[in-house]
Amino acid sequence: MADPLPRTADVGVIGAGAMGAGIAQIAAQAGHRVRLFDNRMGAADQAKAKIAETLAALAAKGKLAPADAEAAAGRIVPVHALGDFVTARLVIEAIVEDLDVKRRLLRELEVVVAPDAILATNTSSLSITALAAGLKHPGRVVGMHFFNPAPVLPLVEVVSGLATDAAAAAVVHATAAAWGKVPVHATSTPGFIVNRCARAFYSEALGLLWERAADAATIDAVTREAGAFRMGPFELMDMIGNDVNFAVTKSVWEAYFHDPRFRPSVLQQERVAAGHLGRKTGRGYFDYAAGAAKPEPRTEGSAPRPSRVSLAGRSALAEGLAVRLRAAGFDVGAAAADAAVAPGYLEVDGALLVPCDGRTATAIAVASGRSDVVVFDLAFDYAKCTRLALAAADGCGAAAVASAVGALQAAGVAVSRFDDVAGLPVMRTVAMLANEAADAVTQGIASARDVDLAMMRGVNYPRGPLAWADAIGVPHVCATLRYLAAHYGEDRYRLSPLIARREATGGRLAE
Ligand code: NAI
Repeated sequence: MADPLPRTADVGVIGAGAMGAGIAQIAAQAGHRVRLFDNRMGAADQAKAKIAETLAALAAKGKLAPADAEAAAGRIVPVHALGDFVTARLVIEAIVEDLDVKRRLLRELEVVVAPDAILATNTSSLSITALAAGLKHPGRVVGMHFFNPAPVLPLVEVVSGLATDAAAAAVVHATAAAWGKVPVHATSTPGFIVNRCARAFYSEALGLLWERAADAATIDAVTREAGAFRMGPFELMDMIGNDVNFAVTKSVWEAYFHDPRFRPSVLQQERVAAGHLGRKTGRGYFDYAAGAAKPEPRTEGSAPRPSRVSLAGRSALAEGLAVRLRAAGFDVGAAAADAAVAPGYLEVDGALLVPCDGRTATAIAVASGRSDVVVFDLAFDYAKCTRLALAAADGCGAAAVASAVGALQAAGVAVSRFDDVAGLPVMRTVAMLANEAADAVTQGIASARDVDLAMMRGVNYPRGPLAWADAIGVPHVCATLRYLAAHYGEDRYRLSPLIARREATGGRLAE
């Protein structure tokens, strides 16, 4: 563990836009004198005034002592030339996302600052290796990737390029922690940790919408209410901006030489082409015009309470749901499982309620010769979820669907019925998030601990994807990926070597 920069050390921030201003505020609140530069006339002064307002507002809300707010604002010094960074021990650039412009800036900066000063970049997509190449001291260039809004979101990805000195990365890591952030180490690869591992959150949902498995509002509702994600993928894309989200997806896909894992969706492209960029244009996947009705998720009408529920075989998902049904007063007895259906499932008045494993309900029905098959989705916590997705086999009788729906409704769970696709939203999303996280670990991009931490603290996932796969059971996650791969015939569902290895040994993915 390295020591953080002492509070007495001068910090420089270049670029006084959304990110630079936030970073300057953080460093000033941590006690550093911060020199702030922007090549747009007056931008640094404006940013300082805005930061002072923000800090004063925090003080008014009682979140900060008024004297501390004033002192922090006073520590920000707008400067008008790069020469003013001569005393800075750490300079963080947050200028325009352009490789050539950033490289030029770093070249100019390295002759100004002391030889041991660290040059950090807040780039979200450029290679740290490429930014540092050609400098006299490339070892001191480190990615310090904050998330927007920087003063609010805790995660900082500390990114090392090929030439980055471990000691410089360690100082940046320790300094981010001293500033109250949650730092993780990453190696410089497209999307680093979060922007790479989060792609599946959007792409699986877009795949379901493309197949018309359900509408966007229904996929969002299931993702929130069963998956315990704070926002659904479509409302989140509308908030981020569909242009921005599409551009990030495209850049990661291109940077990985068109790996189908990261392939963007035609649906995103169409939104961008139409100018439906999300909240900022008043329309995206949803309509934000004043007075527009908020679209409701598709929800099944009420069905009668079934009389008999039993648990056949063993499965973490079926057992989780059985606990919920028992709490609703069902006397869930044990039954022998038909291995042709699944290792574990529920029987509800003759209907088979089978955990989603990447097969369609129809495929399970055909394989087992049982027609009344209904698949149910993964929930983060079956004891607490308020909605669950179901899909029925093509030949499933209406009475069997009503039994499955009625059982869940009796337990207080709203039901969204999806078309019979392979992989319901939460199960396929979590399987793919875990698979990507496992690949990031395999490729040495970050440790298992840091990948899980990054996804929880950078994008608010309710649990790290690796720990989540452990909780579901790695074999079930692997089965889901294999069935999805077979169903779609797509390389995007190929198993990460690490996840397959843990399946073989029965080991855990998370640290
Ligand atoms: P922004 O457009 O709000 O601010 C950039 C600022 O840099 C502007 O004020 C501009 O005048 C100034 N600038 C441009 N070229 C300059 C130069 N050569 N020298 C000095 N100042 C210059 O952009 P934003 O959103 O703050 O992004 C900045 C950086 O942070 C980019 O690298 C971006 O990829 C990265 N980033 C952005 C996030 C976001 O959500 N906006 C999240 C994480 C990273």
